[in-house]
Amino acid sequence: MQDIYKAVKVSDHVYWVGAVDWNIRDFHGYTTKRGSTYNAYLVLADEVTLIDTVKKPFQQEMLSRIASVIDPKEIKYIVSNHSEMDHSGCLPEVINFIQPEKVFASPGGVQALKEIFHVGDKISSVNDGVSLSLGNMTLSFMETRMLHWPDSMFTYLVDEQVLFSQDAFGMHLATAERFDDEIDNSILNYEAATYYANIILPYSALVLKLIERVKKAGLSFKVVAPDHGPIWRKNIQHIVDLYGRWAVQSPTLKAVVVYATMWHSTEQMARAVSEGLYEGGAEVKFMSMDAIHRSDVAYELLESGALIAGSPTLNNNMLPQMADVLTYIKGLRPKNLVGQAFGSYGWSGESIGQIQDILKATKVELVGEAIKIKHVPDKDTLAQCFALGKQIAGKMHEFV
Ligand code: FEO
Repeated sequence: MQDIYKAVKVSDHVYWVGAVDWNIRDFHGYTTKRGSTYNAYLVLADEVTLIDTVKKPFQQEMLSRIASVIDPKEIKYIVSNHSEMDHSGCLPEVINFIQPEKVFASPGGVQALKEIFHVGDKISSVNDGVSLSLGNMTLSFMETRMLHWPDSMFTYLVDEQVLFSQDAFGMHLATAERFDDEIDNSILNYEAATYYANIILPYSALVLKLIERVKKAGLSFKVVAPDHGPIWRKNIQHIVDLYGRWAVQSPTLKAVVVYATMWHSTEQMARAVSEGLYEGGAEVKFMSMDAIHRSDVAYELLESGALIAGSPTLNNNMLPQMADVLTYIKGLRPKNLVGQAFGSYGWSGESIGQIQDILKATKVELVGEAIKIKHVPDKDTLAQCFALGKQIAGKMHEFV
């Protein structure tokens, strides 16, 4: 019987041989509503080379796609651009099966593979800027440390100007199509932004340095081939420009109001703050943590100017769903935000101070005073919330 899994031609000598994970819905806390792909690439040079592998359960799919163009045992080299297990999970088995002459990774990659799979002694380290001859073609390596792991690197196929960019420029999007120009632009933009906000954001300073470095080196790309989602062959400058814009994190007039509520008092406050923000000229994203996911909040914060967070107090703490989202956002290190805390309480009211502490730790500039209302807000206290929203909108205008 003919195998159903086929390689897809990317350039003259490069084939996509990855796997489509239609059903994955969680990537360590980031909800992946449209699934994902794990992209691996085969370079059919004199020395046949496999760039990255796939998550362990998809090993056979990858090997079948490889077998649709070449006997997998003809692979001479494997390059591991990134050691995270969605790209290296089947690497030990694939090394055993293929028995390549060499496996390459960055110095950090050698270390990580050693610690994760205990196969470090089988991996050769390649430093930044080193080239590898494949006979008739050449690969060059560029370390991209902390984009987004210490091991991360790019590999560039000089002869066909193909950049294998591992997680960078990727997105969690499972499709039958393999290329950017085959997919609706609004889906590409949304999923690329969600991916940036949830994975790349903390390393934005490094993104800017990397873009500068690539510009200075005068590298040009016909194809950018990430490890997740579609391969860029038409809109390369568009995604690079978006990365430049997202990395700068210029504040906008969009305010994100995120809250959780017990008996709707904090919700009434959130509504009043939102009305004030709108009155003050801000765009409002009103986000109840009982209705949305933390990764949607990360997406909305990517191009915003304010984070205003509210929670009642439950057993001397903020509600757990607020601790969840605020802890997640703190880790993503968004920049250039103003904001404040609010919430209702019955007798102790610690949640408001706790939210302020997390906002401060996230380097959100606090505007005005936090609002803490006992039990149910009345007309006057709702007016205070409205005024806070308006005050925050006024501050946002100073930064755009
Ligand atoms: Fe797609 Fe950082 O792994």
